[in-house]
Amino acid sequence: MKNIILMGPPGAGKGTNAKRITSFYKIPHISTGDMFREAIKNKTPLGELANSYMSKGLLVPDEVTIGLVKERLSKDDCKDGYLLDGFPRTLVQAEALTKLSEEINRPITSVINIIVPEDILIDRICGRRVCKVCGAPYHVRNLKPKVEGVCDLCGGELVQRKDDNEETLKSRLEEYHKQTEPLIAYYNKLGVVTDVDGTKDLDLLLEDIKTILKD
Ligand code: AP5
Ligand code: MG
Repeated sequence: MKNIILMGPPGAGKGTNAKRITSFYKIPHISTGDMFREAIKNKTPLGELANSYMSKGLLVPDEVTIGLVKERLSKDDCKDGYLLDGFPRTLVQAEALTKLSEEINRPITSVINIIVPEDILIDRICGRRVCKVCGAPYHVRNLKPKVEGVCDLCGGELVQRKDDNEETLKSRLEEYHKQTEPLIAYYNKLGVVTDVDGTKDLDLLLEDIKTILKD
Protein backbone atom coordinates (compact mmCIF):
# COMPACT_ATOMS: atom_id res chain seq x y z
CA MET A 1 0.00 0.00 0.00
CA LYS A 2 1.25 3.50 -0.85
CA ASN A 3 0.28 5.97 1.87
CA ILE A 4 2.75 8.72 1.16
CA ILE A 5 3.68 12.15 2.50
CA LEU A 6 5.71 14.53 0.30
CA MET A 7 7.55 16.95 2.51
CA GLY A 8 9.74 19.96 1.76
CA PRO A 9 9.90 23.76 1.97
CA PRO A 10 7.97 26.11 -0.35
CA GLY A 11 9.25 25.62 -3.88
CA ALA A 12 10.89 22.24 -3.19
CA GLY A 13 8.75 20.64 -5.90
CA LYS A 14 6.03 18.93 -3.84
CA GLY A 15 3.26 19.77 -6.32
CA THR A 16 5.36 19.06 -9.42
CA ASN A 17 6.54 15.65 -8.19
CA ALA A 18 3.16 14.79 -6.64
CA LYS A 19 1.47 15.07 -10.04
CA ARG A 20 4.08 12.78 -11.63
CA ILE A 21 4.00 10.20 -8.80
CA THR A 22 0.20 10.01 -8.60
CA SER A 23 -0.23 9.68 -12.34
CA PHE A 24 2.20 6.74 -12.26
CA TYR A 25 0.68 4.98 -9.21
CA LYS A 26 -2.95 6.03 -9.83
CA ILE A 27 -3.53 7.25 -6.30
CA PRO A 28 -5.16 10.57 -5.31
CA HIS A 29 -2.98 13.69 -4.88
CA ILE A 30 -4.19 15.50 -1.77
CA SER A 31 -2.78 19.03 -1.50
CA THR A 32 -4.15 21.16 1.32
CA GLY A 33 -2.77 24.27 -0.42
CA ASP A 34 -4.73 23.39 -3.60
CA MET A 35 -7.86 22.70 -1.53
CA PHE A 36 -7.60 26.11 0.13
CA ARG A 37 -6.98 27.83 -3.23
CA GLU A 38 -10.07 26.10 -4.64
CA ALA A 39 -12.13 27.37 -1.68
CA ILE A 40 -10.76 30.90 -2.24
CA LYS A 41 -11.69 30.71 -5.93
CA ASN A 42 -15.22 29.60 -5.02
CA LYS A 43 -15.50 32.37 -2.40
CA THR A 44 -16.63 29.97 0.35
CA PRO A 45 -16.35 30.84 4.09
CA LEU A 46 -13.42 28.37 4.30
CA GLY A 47 -11.76 30.23 1.43
CA GLU A 48 -12.20 33.56 3.15
CA LEU A 49 -10.68 32.23 6.36
CA ALA A 50 -7.79 30.47 4.57
CA ASN A 51 -7.01 33.56 2.50
CA SER A 52 -6.54 35.70 5.60
CA TYR A 53 -3.62 33.44 6.61
CA MET A 54 -2.23 32.42 3.21
CA SER A 55 -1.90 35.98 1.96
CA LYS A 56 0.45 36.64 4.90
CA GLY A 57 2.37 33.40 4.43
CA LEU A 58 1.07 32.03 7.74
CA LEU A 59 -0.34 28.57 8.40
CA VAL A 60 -4.11 28.08 8.45
CA PRO A 61 -5.23 26.94 11.96
CA ASP A 62 -4.79 23.23 12.70
CA GLU A 63 -8.43 22.39 13.49
CA VAL A 64 -9.58 23.72 10.11
CA THR A 65 -6.85 21.93 8.15
CA ILE A 66 -7.21 18.64 10.02
CA GLY A 67 -10.99 18.65 9.48
CA LEU A 68 -10.48 19.12 5.76
CA VAL A 69 -7.98 16.25 5.47
CA LYS A 70 -10.11 13.96 7.62
CA GLU A 71 -13.04 14.40 5.26
CA ARG A 72 -10.85 13.90 2.18
CA LEU A 73 -9.12 10.74 3.45
CA SER A 74 -12.45 9.12 4.22
CA LYS A 75 -13.39 9.18 0.52
CA ASP A 76 -13.47 5.93 -1.43
CA ASP A 77 -10.65 6.82 -3.82
CA CYS A 78 -8.14 6.69 -0.92
CA LYS A 79 -8.78 3.01 -0.25
CA ASP A 80 -5.76 1.90 -2.30
CA GLY A 81 -3.46 4.62 -1.00
CA TYR A 82 -2.94 8.36 -1.22
CA LEU A 83 -0.26 11.02 -1.51
CA LEU A 84 -0.33 14.03 0.82
CA ASP A 85 1.34 17.26 -0.37
CA GLY A 86 1.69 20.07 2.17
CA PHE A 87 0.11 18.14 5.05
CA PRO A 88 1.03 17.65 7.87
CA ARG A 89 2.83 20.93 8.62
CA THR A 90 2.71 21.03 12.42
CA LEU A 91 3.21 18.48 15.18
CA VAL A 92 -0.50 18.67 16.04
CA GLN A 93 -1.36 17.85 12.40
CA ALA A 94 1.15 14.97 12.34
CA GLU A 95 -0.29 13.46 15.50
CA ALA A 96 -3.83 13.83 14.17
CA LEU A 97 -2.77 12.16 10.91
CA THR A 98 -1.19 9.23 12.73
CA LYS A 99 -4.52 8.61 14.49
CA LEU A 100 -6.65 9.22 11.43
CA SER A 101 -4.57 7.06 9.08
CA GLU A 102 -4.71 4.18 11.57
CA GLU A 103 -8.48 4.57 11.97
CA ILE A 104 -8.96 4.12 8.23
CA ASN A 105 -6.38 1.30 8.17
CA ARG A 106 -3.99 3.16 5.88
CA PRO A 107 -1.01 4.12 8.06
CA ILE A 108 1.76 6.24 6.55
CA THR A 109 4.19 4.00 4.67
CA SER A 110 6.69 6.59 3.31
CA VAL A 111 7.72 10.17 3.88
CA ILE A 112 9.71 11.59 0.97
CA ASN A 113 11.67 14.63 2.08
CA ILE A 114 12.63 16.84 -0.86
CA ILE A 115 15.87 18.75 -0.22
CA VAL A 116 16.62 22.00 -2.12
CA PRO A 117 19.00 24.86 -1.13
CA GLU A 118 17.29 28.13 -0.14
CA ASP A 119 18.65 30.29 -3.01
CA ILE A 120 17.13 27.87 -5.52
CA LEU A 121 13.81 27.87 -3.65
CA ILE A 122 13.58 31.66 -3.95
CA ASP A 123 14.33 31.58 -7.70
CA ARG A 124 11.78 28.83 -8.26
CA ILE A 125 8.99 30.57 -6.36
CA CYS A 126 9.58 33.93 -8.04
CA GLY A 127 9.60 32.30 -11.53
CA ARG A 128 6.69 29.95 -10.93
CA ARG A 129 3.48 30.10 -12.93
CA VAL A 130 0.51 27.85 -12.14
CA CYS A 131 -2.52 26.74 -14.12
CA LYS A 132 -5.59 28.69 -13.07
CA VAL A 133 -7.76 25.62 -13.75
CA CYS A 134 -5.85 22.50 -12.57
CA GLY A 135 -3.05 24.06 -10.48
CA ALA A 136 -0.18 22.37 -12.39
CA PRO A 137 3.08 24.28 -11.75
CA TYR A 138 5.48 25.63 -14.42
CA HIS A 139 8.52 27.89 -14.33
CA VAL A 140 9.37 30.80 -16.64
CA ARG A 141 12.82 29.33 -17.39
CA ASN A 142 13.17 25.81 -15.95
CA LEU A 143 9.86 24.25 -16.83
CA LYS A 144 8.17 26.06 -19.69
CA PRO A 145 4.81 24.93 -21.07
CA LYS A 146 4.71 23.87 -24.72
CA VAL A 147 2.69 27.00 -25.56
CA GLU A 148 3.49 30.15 -23.56
CA GLY A 149 0.84 30.97 -20.95
CA VAL A 150 -1.12 27.76 -21.56
CA CYS A 151 -1.24 24.59 -19.39
CA ASP A 152 0.05 21.46 -21.17
CA LEU A 153 -2.32 19.25 -19.19
CA CYS A 154 -5.67 21.02 -19.47
CA GLY A 155 -5.24 24.12 -21.66
CA GLY A 156 -5.94 26.47 -18.71
CA GLU A 157 -4.39 29.93 -18.37
CA LEU A 158 -1.07 30.19 -16.48
CA VAL A 159 -0.93 32.82 -13.72
CA GLN A 160 1.29 33.80 -10.78
CA ARG A 161 0.15 32.69 -7.30
CA LYS A 162 -0.76 35.59 -4.97
CA ASP A 163 1.60 34.35 -2.25
CA ASP A 164 4.54 34.04 -4.68
CA ASN A 165 6.24 37.33 -3.82
CA GLU A 166 9.44 37.86 -1.82
CA GLU A 167 7.78 39.26 1.28
CA THR A 168 5.21 36.48 1.71
CA LEU A 169 7.81 33.88 0.81
CA LYS A 170 9.93 35.07 3.73
CA SER A 171 7.11 34.22 6.20
CA ARG A 172 6.41 30.93 4.43
CA LEU A 173 10.05 29.90 4.83
CA GLU A 174 10.04 30.98 8.48
CA GLU A 175 6.87 28.96 9.14
CA TYR A 176 8.48 25.97 7.42
CA HIS A 177 11.66 26.09 9.54
CA LYS A 178 9.80 26.72 12.78
CA GLN A 179 6.78 24.43 12.46
CA THR A 180 7.26 21.86 9.68
CA GLU A 181 10.97 20.95 9.60
CA PRO A 182 10.79 19.40 13.11
CA LEU A 183 8.34 16.81 11.71
CA ILE A 184 11.22 15.09 9.93
CA ALA A 185 12.48 13.99 13.36
CA TYR A 186 8.95 12.82 14.25
CA TYR A 187 8.80 10.59 11.15
CA ASN A 188 12.45 9.53 11.47
CA LYS A 189 11.49 7.91 14.77
CA LEU A 190 8.94 5.86 12.83
CA GLY A 191 11.67 4.91 10.32
CA VAL A 192 9.74 6.00 7.23
CA VAL A 193 11.72 9.02 5.95
CA THR A 194 13.89 9.08 2.81
CA ASP A 195 15.61 12.25 1.58
CA VAL A 196 15.70 12.99 -2.15
CA ASP A 197 17.65 15.60 -4.12
CA GLY A 198 15.02 18.07 -5.37
CA THR A 199 17.48 19.84 -7.68
CA LYS A 200 17.72 16.80 -9.97
CA ASP A 201 16.17 16.48 -13.38
CA LEU A 202 12.50 15.57 -12.82
CA ASP A 203 12.63 12.26 -14.74
CA LEU A 204 15.69 11.10 -12.75
CA LEU A 205 14.00 12.18 -9.53
CA LEU A 206 10.89 10.17 -10.41
CA GLU A 207 13.09 7.10 -10.89
CA ASP A 208 14.66 7.66 -7.43
CA ILE A 209 11.19 7.98 -5.92
CA LYS A 210 9.92 4.83 -7.64
CA THR A 211 12.88 2.92 -6.17
CA ILE A 212 12.04 4.23 -2.70
CA LEU A 213 8.37 3.32 -3.07
CA LYS A 214 9.01 -0.16 -4.42
CA ASP A 215 7.50 -2.70 -2.00
P1 AP5 B 1 1.18 25.16 -0.41
O1 AP5 B 1 0.30 25.35 -1.56
O2 AP5 B 1 1.39 23.81 0.12
O3 AP5 B 1 2.56 25.88 -0.72
P2 AP5 B 1 4.07 25.66 -0.22
O4 AP5 B 1 4.32 24.63 0.80
O5 AP5 B 1 4.55 27.01 0.08
O6 AP5 B 1 4.75 25.00 -1.41
P3 AP5 B 1 4.63 25.44 -2.89
O7 AP5 B 1 3.34 24.95 -3.48
O8 AP5 B 1 4.94 26.89 -3.01
O9 AP5 B 1 5.87 24.66 -3.53
P4 AP5 B 1 5.99 23.16 -4.04
O10 AP5 B 1 6.90 22.43 -3.11
O11 AP5 B 1 4.65 22.55 -4.32
O12 AP5 B 1 6.79 23.40 -5.38
P5 AP5 B 1 6.34 23.29 -6.91
O13 AP5 B 1 6.17 21.86 -7.30
O14 AP5 B 1 5.23 24.21 -7.20
O15 AP5 B 1 0.64 26.07 0.79
C1 AP5 B 1 0.27 27.41 0.58
C2 AP5 B 1 -0.31 28.00 1.85
O16 AP5 B 1 -1.50 27.28 2.22
C3 AP5 B 1 0.58 27.92 3.10
O17 AP5 B 1 1.49 29.00 3.14
C4 AP5 B 1 -0.47 27.97 4.21
O18 AP5 B 1 -0.93 29.29 4.42
C5 AP5 B 1 -1.62 27.15 3.63
N1 AP5 B 1 -1.54 25.71 3.98
C6 AP5 B 1 -1.40 24.67 3.12
N2 AP5 B 1 -1.33 23.49 3.77
C7 AP5 B 1 -1.44 23.79 5.10
C8 AP5 B 1 -1.41 23.01 6.29
N3 AP5 B 1 -1.25 21.67 6.25
N4 AP5 B 1 -1.54 23.66 7.48
C9 AP5 B 1 -1.71 24.99 7.53
N5 AP5 B 1 -1.72 25.79 6.45
C10 AP5 B 1 -1.59 25.20 5.24
O19 AP5 B 1 7.68 23.79 -7.61
C11 AP5 B 1 8.11 25.13 -7.48
C12 AP5 B 1 8.71 25.62 -8.81
O20 AP5 B 1 9.94 24.92 -9.06
C13 AP5 B 1 7.82 25.36 -10.02
O21 AP5 B 1 7.89 26.45 -10.87
C14 AP5 B 1 8.42 24.10 -10.66
O22 AP5 B 1 8.20 24.10 -12.02
C15 AP5 B 1 9.90 24.24 -10.31
N6 AP5 B 1 10.55 22.93 -10.11
C16 AP5 B 1 10.16 21.97 -9.22
N7 AP5 B 1 11.00 20.91 -9.25
C17 AP5 B 1 11.95 21.21 -10.17
C18 AP5 B 1 13.11 20.52 -10.64
N8 AP5 B 1 13.47 19.30 -10.19
N9 AP5 B 1 13.86 21.13 -11.59
C19 AP5 B 1 13.52 22.36 -12.06
N10 AP5 B 1 12.45 23.05 -11.66
C20 AP5 B 1 11.66 22.50 -10.71
MG1 MG C 1 2.65 23.14 -4.07
